[in-house]
Amino acid sequence: MSTSVHIEPDPERRAALTRAISAQTGLDREGIEAFLRAFYGAAREDPILGPAFADVADWEKHIAVITRFWGSVALMTGEYHGQPMQAHAHLALTPAHFARWLEIFERIARDHFTHGGAEHMLERARRIARSLEMGLIPLHLPAR
Ligand code: HEM
Repeated sequence: MSTSVHIEPDPERRAALTRAISAQTGLDREGIEAFLRAFYGAAREDPILGPAFADVADWEKHIAVITRFWGSVALMTGEYHGQPMQAHAHLALTPAHFARWLEIFERIARDHFTHGGAEHMLERARRIARSLEMGLIPLHLPAR
C-alpha cells in the first residue's frame, strides 16, 4: 500500500514465487478472474451491497483492476498499484457492508476453489477488509 516501503523482487524470482503459490493452492489468474465475476455478480444483486456498487460506470474495467489486485495479493504478481482506501472513501460504508461482503466472498470462494485455495483467499480478504474497515469507519467512543 502507499505508505509501505516497496522493494521489487526481480521478475524471475517473482514468477517462481507465483508458480509456487499456484502449485500449493491451486489458484491461478484465470480461476481468480472467474471467481471475481461470480462474486461481483452476487454483490451487485445483494440488497446491502448493491446500492454501493450502483455507480460503477465500467464493470469490465473494475473486473480488470480487481483481478490485478487479487493477482498481487494472492499470487504475489506485483501487478496492482492502486489505492484501495481512497477508492472507498466516498461510499459511506458501514460494518454491515463489510460483514456482508465477507459472507458473499466466502460462499463464492468455497464454490470456486479447493479448500486450500479458498483459505488462502479468505485469510487475505479478512485481513484487508479489517484494515479498510478500521481506516474508513470512525470509531465512536462513548462520551465521558
Ligand atoms: C464493504 C463493502 C465494499 C463495497 C461496497 C465496495 C465497493 C467498491 C466500489 C464501488 C469500488 C469502485 C469501483 C469503480 O468505480 O470502478 C471499489 C473499488 C475497489 N475495491 Fe471495494 N468495496 C468493498 C469492500 C472491499 C474489500 C473488502 C476489498 C479488498 C479486500 C476491496 C477492494 C477494492 C479494490 C482493490 C478496488 C479498486 C481500487 C482502485 O481503483 O485501484 N473492496 N470497491
